[in-house]
Amino acid sequence: MSTLSSENLILLNNVCKDFDTPKGKITVLQHINLTVNKGEKVCIVGPSGCGKTTILNMIAGFLQPSSGEVSINGKKVVKPGPDRTVVFQKDSVFPWLTVRKNLEYGPKVRGLPRSEWESKIDFYLEKVKLTEFADRYPKELSGGMRKRVDIARAYINSPEILLMDEPFGPLDVMTKEVMQKDLLDLTREENKSIIFITHDIEEAVFLGDRVIVMTARPAKIHSDIKIPFPKDRDPSLKMEPEFQRLRKQIDGIFKGVEQE
Ligand SMILES: Nc1ncnc2c1ncn2[C@@H]1O[C@H](COP(=O)(O)OP(=O)(O)OP(=O)(O)O)[C@@H](O)[C@H]1O
Ligand SMILES: [Mg+2]
Repeated sequence: MSTLSSENLILLNNVCKDFDTPKGKITVLQHINLTVNKGEKVCIVGPSGCGKTTILNMIAGFLQPSSGEVSINGKKVVKPGPDRTVVFQKDSVFPWLTVRKNLEYGPKVRGLPRSEWESKIDFYLEKVKLTEFADRYPKELSGGMRKRVDIARAYINSPEILLMDEPFGPLDVMTKEVMQKDLLDLTREENKSIIFITHDIEEAVFLGDRVIVMTARPAKIHSDIKIPFPKDRDPSLKMEPEFQRLRKQIDGIFKGVEQE
């Protein structure tokens, strides 16, 4: 089932967001205009607290803009839906379920026939290197392992849009590199769209078709930089001079924004 066929998949049109706090109203986002095409991978970097998670929450349908509009495939986002899955900064595994049962949860709740997802469970357990831990409970896992359960769960739900909030933050460098490559490989074939928030500029350049740099709060989009590498990327790309040039360029923009 795919109703998302238009090029302009995700659209933020003049989105502003205020929050009421005990100290009064704060403006977090100011006039955000952003378009994400089908199959596009957009990485967002910006100073801590600038409003990156807030943007993701509005696209997910957990929050509504104070003004402006978020739409997906031409339809205003008013609530969460099965076309979108969020991987939060903190893992959200169910502590009372084993790893395998955590992965089975989504397809079961959606009432999908077992034949449609059963083989995927082992495939993704292998991908996130948790096959041996399938029957363990989250409390028996490290933080990085729980995060990998979380990510496998998102893949199994197979949404058209993956919204990822610093998903690889708690992972060690080696695992992170493998997970980055897997993310690109697993989503390329199905032409999934990804919005990926990270503090790691190298990661943003490696994963993104575009890297967006936000300003400090009240946040605006400072730069929207096209990353001209092919979709099929290998970690060895990170050593290429053009990669390093882009990483330095974006690093410079980011540091400038932080000092403003
Ligand atoms: N529900 C809320 N009520 C009040 N203020 C909020 C709420 N959610 C977020 N904020 C404030 O909005 C601002 C942006 O928060 P957000 O979590 O989107 O930032 P972020 O860019 O994701 O930060 P980080 O990089 O640290 O994850 C912060 O100042 C935060 O305190
Ligand atoms: Mg955040």
